[in-house]
Amino acid sequence: MEQSPQFKEEMDFRDLLRAPGKLFGYSYIYFLLLLLGLGMLYAWNLNAIGKNSIVPLVLSDSSAFVKDIPLQSPSVLPPVDVQVASKSTPELIARGREVFKANCISCHGEDGLGDGPAGLTLNPRPRNFHQAGGWTNGAKISEIYRTLQEGIVKNGMASFSYLPPSDRFALIHLIRSFQPAPPADTEQEIALLETTYQLSKGSVIPAQIPVHDAIKHLVAEHAAAQDSLKAFVGSHTGQSPDPGTELFRKLAVNPVRCLTACRARRDEIVSTEGFVRLVSSDPVALGLRPSVLSLDQQEWSLLHAYVVAEAR
Ligand code: HEC
Repeated sequence: MEQSPQFKEEMDFRDLLRAPGKLFGYSYIYFLLLLLGLGMLYAWNLNAIGKNSIVPLVLSDSSAFVKDIPLQSPSVLPPVDVQVASKSTPELIARGREVFKANCISCHGEDGLGDGPAGLTLNPRPRNFHQAGGWTNGAKISEIYRTLQEGIVKNGMASFSYLPPSDRFALIHLIRSFQPAPPADTEQEIALLETTYQLSKGSVIPAQIPVHDAIKHLVAEHAAAQDSLKAFVGSHTGQSPDPGTELFRKLAVNPVRCLTACRARRDEIVSTEGFVRLVSSDPVALGLRPSVLSLDQQEWSLLHAYVVAEAR
């Protein structure tokens, strides 16, 4: 008997065995579900995935690079009349170009486009002076002056406070000449430059050497004295009949340091009281044992006499 269409099994397994290719037709629904599941998993974790794709901020070890103060030759910064200097002239711009070449093109590029080789790795990139918007401090005279005075250190723009103010105004006019319509300062803003930086007074910049070099110079200067002290301390071995010497030997952890410090401060240890005061302030820093603090009056005098004689 022929089966009527409404009783035909929904899924005819005999059919399926005859043409197994059909199986794939049924399996696509599982793939769809699997894809949907994976999609939901992805959407669920989108937050974490997004976070991971942002380069993590590398916290630098601030103790790793110790910034030293720069070498600086002494100079006198001549006084400047702000009212005159704030007016642009062809001479000022020409001077500005010279100073710009010497100090700025490495980052800001020959034409102020912010494309200098040293600026390529900086973020933010050095300012393109032709662009009007997006300045951190701004393109007014007073604003650029502040940029040059203080720098924008966090963004890699250095301070150029050692440049004479007249050269800074020259630079300012050059930079502003790159813009078709640079923003104007109000009269108060120009006057405030004078009040803030006392430009009409001029100033003296003292010479300065990096601390690192200063330490080297100091060590070299004292090397001869140190050597003689070391030789002297080295020659004092074995028992000594002098009770002051004996006391010093017993108490000094670092005899050379102690004698060097006392020599440097010999004005303070002329009297025994002064000596006691100096030693009591920090015996360990002076290379002595803390037990020095329990000496009696007579022992202090002996120790003082010895140190004064040796630290001459
Ligand atoms: C070591 C690279 C470097 C050097 C050298 C340098 N700059 Fe910059 N400068 C920068 C960077 C980076 C910025 C961008 C700072 C920012 O976006 O806040 C910048 C920004 C500026 C700005 C715009 C500040 C603002 O308000 O956005 C001025 C003006 C400027 N520099 C002037 C100078 C002058 C003039 C010199 C030379 C005397 C100079 N710079 C030398 C890196 C440098």
